[in-house]
Amino acid sequence: MLHVNRRIKDIVGSTTLAITARAKELAAQGHDVVNFGAGEPDFDTPDFIKKAGIKAIESGFTKYTPSIGTQDLREAIAAKFQKDNGLVYKPNQIVVSCGAKHSLFNIIQVLVDDGDEVIFQSPYWVSYPEMVKAAGGKSVIIPTDASTAFKITPDLLKKHITPKTRILIINSPSNPTGVMYHKEELAKIAEICVAHKIYVISDEIYEKLIYDTNVFTSIASLGQEIFDLTITVNGVSKAYAMTGWRIGYAAGALEIMEYIKKYQDHSTSNPTSISQVAALEALKASPESIDQMCQIFKKRRDLMLQCLDRIPELSYIRPEGAFYVFCDFSKVGDATVIAKQMLDEVKVAGIPGDSFGAPNYIRFSFATSDARIQEGIARVAKWIANQSSSLKV
Ligand SMILES: Cc1ncc(COP(=O)(O)O)c(C=O)c1O
Repeated sequence: MLHVNRRIKDIVGSTTLAITARAKELAAQGHDVVNFGAGEPDFDTPDFIKKAGIKAIESGFTKYTPSIGTQDLREAIAAKFQKDNGLVYKPNQIVVSCGAKHSLFNIIQVLVDDGDEVIFQSPYWVSYPEMVKAAGGKSVIIPTDASTAFKITPDLLKKHITPKTRILIINSPSNPTGVMYHKEELAKIAEICVAHKIYVISDEIYEKLIYDTNVFTSIASLGQEIFDLTITVNGVSKAYAMTGWRIGYAAGALEIMEYIKKYQDHSTSNPTSISQVAALEALKASPESIDQMCQIFKKRRDLMLQCLDRIPELSYIRPEGAFYVFCDFSKVGDATVIAKQMLDEVKVAGIPGDSFGAPNYIRFSFATSDARIQEGIARVAKWIANQSSSLKV
């Protein structure tokens, strides 16, 4: 029998990627698939960023860089943190990695020891439990639902803290729900983490995709004590349509970041030199260069909600950021089965909520055109109507 490391043998593959792969396979067979499965912007990387990458190749910037990323890029990230988030990190407190996913993986491997407890909520981003497993830790999942707008409350958090609690992961705006934690909510959470000396990993990857009058707050900005306990994670994937370039970054207390550096030294070394140049260009650009993408996402969100509102069986919490609507299918049936049936029967791909620890839901991504949103939700409506009428027969 194959012998596999005990921490790795129970890891499950990413269902998000599996459904997306199946949707692509059906499309390749000639089916007209509406793909609401995507976890990435459908826009192309802006030209000025691509050009910086091309220039990097042409000028021979194709060798190893410092393992934690170039000084220029880390200075630009430090400036970004200060300007956008009110966080003062020195460049040596920042480690650039191959995507925010890699940053999160590094942090969890460095901070979590056998049996340590890591708290996060469900619905959660699919990779958190698997990263904790890989580190030998224990995920302590706080279930949340529409009654608290998918957010943990101070009481819920307190109830889940034990002497083994080491880390709280906060993801705002959230994948898969699109809801965000507001300043007052974060302040209460920060107070509890400070009182119990719990590290916070703040996954801020959707920071730039926020709609209406909502204002983004980094939990680390809420006082020196919470700043010292927080590792802030961000990246260029979602904000600049750069998912394939694989650049993410983390910042925190120097002693933690030095361990992360050592860990990365012996795994990937530096993230791609060319992508670092492109990410630097992205971070130096004026905010207007990405505002347009955000405006388009907002219009698409509004359109998707309008279409969903015509389906009485479905409900959702209005997303304030990111590009997902998390739909409650409990009035229709088993969401895991439905997601598969809808893909096979009407060729609409959504990600079943069990991947996010919320089995009654399906996540629809609105990172696609208006026409596809209308077409896809119309197919969902028709499919649901057919189910109800066949049930009545
Ligand atoms: C909540 C969340 N965190 C982190 C990531 C990782 O982003 P990347 O590795 O592309 O920077 C994603 C990507 O889907 C995400 O949804």
